[in-house]
Amino acid sequence: MNTILSKQRLSAEVFRMEIEAKEIAEARKPGQFIILQMGGDFGERIPLTIADADPAKGSITLIFQAVGETTHRLALLEKGDFIENLLGPLGRPTDIKKYGKVVCVGGGIGVAPLFPIVQGMKMAGNEVKVIMGARNKDLLIMEDDMKATADEVIVVTDDGSYGRKALVTEPLKELCETYKPDCVVIIGPPIMMKFAALTTKPYGIHTIVSLNTIMIDGTGMCGGCRVTIGGKTKFVCVDGPEFDGHLVDWDNMLLRLGTYKSKEQEAHHRCHV
Ligand code: FES
Repeated sequence: MNTILSKQRLSAEVFRMEIEAKEIAEARKPGQFIILQMGGDFGERIPLTIADADPAKGSITLIFQAVGETTHRLALLEKGDFIENLLGPLGRPTDIKKYGKVVCVGGGIGVAPLFPIVQGMKMAGNEVKVIMGARNKDLLIMEDDMKATADEVIVVTDDGSYGRKALVTEPLKELCETYKPDCVVIIGPPIMMKFAALTTKPYGIHTIVSLNTIMIDGTGMCGGCRVTIGGKTKFVCVDGPEFDGHLVDWDNMLLRLGTYKSKEQEAHHRCHV
């Protein structure tokens, strides 16, 4: 049982929760995630990246969007409530080292897991520029956190309601040409990661993406998180979640992710937060 220490609504459907999880807080590294299960032994298990951790306090911070049944249930919990089942830290940590110039690209809720990577890349001595995007102003999260950490932050919205009216790929292409980063890290919706990775490819820039697939056991046994990387089968839970963005078979991954889309939409309409 893990107690919820605080809860904050960041936008209409996005929540930040600080949860008591001493061992995970002490062990976690940027890029790692937890698997959370609600609704008893047969409840759905979902992966969520750890956005922050405080080892001294013994807590981790999760930032999530209420999109499916489990995240809607989670959003209904309040400070003092418990989460029954939390497993982690899982996955391999981000390859944080001194690259030189790093561009971190976050889309929507992907900005949350990107934040500890921006912090880590800065601490490793890199110059870090951030491109963060959302469909509109109300869906933008963690702008102040990013501005306090990165060397430069470029904000874009699809509808132009805040920042520059553009997709993240536009400023990314410009930075590839003028800034010439040594490494690009991209986290966001799969379709955004696909096109952002395609943007850096002609420039031959090392590009890391963090995949968020369907997961069940989180131990490499069930095959639920299977992806194809460079023609080889990999499991996101144990081989990832981060991979070379230029080697991911995006179309195969998008197809597999689409399997549960209708159920997710059904849950979204059924639940009210
Ligand atoms: Fe089962 Fe990765 S979640 S193999």
